[in-house]
Amino acid sequence: MCGIIGYVGGREAQPILLNGLKRLEYRGYDSAGMVTYLLSKNLLAVRKSPGKIKELENLLKKKPLGGCVGISHTRWSTHGEPNQINSHPHLDCRGEIAVVHNGIIENYTELKKELIKEGHKFISQTDTEVIPHLIEKFYSYNSFLEEAVRKALAKLEGSFAIGVISKREPHKLIGARSGSPLIVGVGKNENFLASDAPAILEHTKEVIFLKENEVAVLTRQSVKVTDLNGKEIVKKPVRINWDIIHAQKQGHKHFMLKEINEQPKIIEDLLRARLQNNRIFFEEQLIGEEKLKSIKNISIVACGTAYHAGMVGKYTLEAICSIPVSVDVSSEFRYRSLLIDKDTLVIAISQSGETADTLAGAREAKRKGAWLLSVCNVLGSSLTRESDGVIYTYAGPEIGVASTKAYTAQLTALYLFAFYLAQIRGISKQKINEYLKELESIPQKMRAILKQQDKIARLSHRHSHFGSFLYLGRNLNYPSALEGALKLKEISYIPAEGYAAGEMKHGPIALIDEYRAVVCIACESRVYEKMVSNMQEILSRKGKIIAIASEGDKKIKGLTKEVIYIPKTDELFSPLLVVLPLQLLAYHIALKRGCDVDQPRNLAKSVTVE
Ligand code: AGP
Repeated sequence: MCGIIGYVGGREAQPILLNGLKRLEYRGYDSAGMVTYLLSKNLLAVRKSPGKIKELENLLKKKPLGGCVGISHTRWSTHGEPNQINSHPHLDCRGEIAVVHNGIIENYTELKKELIKEGHKFISQTDTEVIPHLIEKFYSYNSFLEEAVRKALAKLEGSFAIGVISKREPHKLIGARSGSPLIVGVGKNENFLASDAPAILEHTKEVIFLKENEVAVLTRQSVKVTDLNGKEIVKKPVRINWDIIHAQKQGHKHFMLKEINEQPKIIEDLLRARLQNNRIFFEEQLIGEEKLKSIKNISIVACGTAYHAGMVGKYTLEAICSIPVSVDVSSEFRYRSLLIDKDTLVIAISQSGETADTLAGAREAKRKGAWLLSVCNVLGSSLTRESDGVIYTYAGPEIGVASTKAYTAQLTALYLFAFYLAQIRGISKQKINEYLKELESIPQKMRAILKQQDKIARLSHRHSHFGSFLYLGRNLNYPSALEGALKLKEISYIPAEGYAAGEMKHGPIALIDEYRAVVCIACESRVYEKMVSNMQEILSRKGKIIAIASEGDKKIKGLTKEVIYIPKTDELFSPLLVVLPLQLLAYHIALKRGCDVDQPRNLAKSVTVE
């Protein structure tokens, strides 16, 4: 995934582009570049550099760019290593057209061969570079830039969000998307293009979410959107309902730490919005009650952290609604022989709503006639626009690459949906009311855990030297074990494996020795005694245990001194509490090891390519 921002207006473009790019750095950060149109010299001026945006900023300090029209890009490389040549923008043979791109052009090899045969010269190893040369090919002197762009896009297979400027029509900024997100920011006497809202929110909250195969033609005074055939599409801007402040660290050392600490408030706000006198409301468009009553099975599809939320959703929906639920990682779901049809509800979970595999899975589900409900955190994202119903998690922008607040918001959304489904199906009303009462106590219980951050930091530091970790949990906390392991590995790069504790004897126990840390999720539950037995098996092989246990547990200290206590709650909701110590453990271990917590190596916030 990459970050794109474009500007056309009356102000200097460089600072707007650079600051906007910084707010997109979580999308990809292995190289960056910028291009503006210099009126004085009638040319496109380019600055590009490998490394983070800071490197581009240093280059611009030495060699600033003037001009009031420009595009800029921060890259997560797919084709061609992250170096100066391969960073965006890419230009045509004459240097008259500049393009930045997010996505993958799957037929770029054939296109490149054809263009080279026609005399075009290429200098990079990227797939992107075919785009400016295709535009050049169609950009005859009596045609408009947008016409040439549309013709070029019609040749592309794969996914793209692009920004284009040209020295021949320097007052124009063109944007287009297919498979990767792109929004238009509508300002006063200025207009913007961006991959995501944080890049432009300080300038305007009025945005247009471009849909698949739409092309936007921006000038200082106008915004025109067409389809790929040039037919105009009337668009009304929507107002983004949060401020740029939400996408800033607000005094925290890292976005991830800020987002961990935001969780109680986010869950509180979600419950306040969705729960009144034991009635559950989804203010978004859901799937009709009659249809939901008739659903015979549920299939959940997601990636990474969202997949772990889906696993908790499975346990919950089966326990509360007595309906069969399957859960798949999206990349497997889409290639499986799916036994789903009009009696199936598919729930696609995605923080970004742009994950390529989840989008593909969702489309396959629709093709098979299933009903599609998405649980998503980004207003107007691709997944939400292709769903029959949406549940927004309203966690605000999640900038840290390691997902935290979006996860607990997804869990809360899934709990509420399970209770809602039970209510409309008339299942166990009294028990649901008891659950809802306990759910409302969760934010306060989260705060009690967050008060232990210093203690958890010290415990993390004591274990930061371990070369590998095993996370063990049972039942609803088996997904918690997977999530804890994912958090640690993706920000500290320590090999970490999550496992169903009952499976330990079927292999992983061979790993146990004094050089391995084992995180055991042993909070109060029906399977607590089973977890105690697992811990004894680990101790007898000198494993080093970190336990997550319930307040008041008298037994755990006899097993390990390294304990993080969480408030008691119904075991159904324990994943909402257990995950906080796991997030903090990962954060503090990664920090101790000097890792870049917010922008871990090789990762990007949303994987918009397959
Ligand atoms: C989670 O910490 C990771 N960043 C990653 O696994 C993420 O959950 C996954 O890529 C899914 O992203 P999505 O929720 O935006 O679809």
